Amino acid sequence: MKSTNRRHFIKQTCPLLIASIVGGEALVSSCSKEKTENPTPISGGYQISDQILTIDLNHADFEPLNSKGWINFLEQNVLILKSNGSYSAYTNVCPHEGTRNRWSYSASENTFLCSNHDKTYKADCKTAGSGGVLKCYSTQLSNNQLKINLS
Ligand code: FES
Repeated sequence: MKSTNRRHFIKQTCPLLIASIVGGEALVSSCSKEKTENPTPISGGYQISDQILTIDLNHADFEPLNSKGWINFLEQNVLILKSNGSYSAYTNVCPHEGTRNRWSYSASENTFLCSNHDKTYKADCKTAGSGGVLKCYSTQLSNNQLKINLS
């Protein structure tokens, strides 16, 4: 390749290469952000009184408990897990630095992950994960109404 051709090639290609690298990073970054949870707002099907959160499990907003197995009820700072027909509830405030909206759940490990700094929390309420133990709330199920004691 002649030096003028090479110079022309570099002039033409470098901006595209740099743009693709920068764009690639943005793409990777935006892809990784897409992995973080963006909970669907819950607008109905629950009430709260005297620190007791009562959820109507028949309400459409709580359908993800059936399809996904868990939800981050961001409006009430509660993670709710459905496992083998029973329900467990946890704070959604990460003990590490308080992030509330970066949760995911691994059924195979029975573990919540806060992706802000990748700390894990066992869902059994007693075994420490890498971030310690996640605060659990007591639950009671009756007539498809789930009561969660937030005190
Ligand atoms: S805030 Fe959750 S891991 Fe750091």
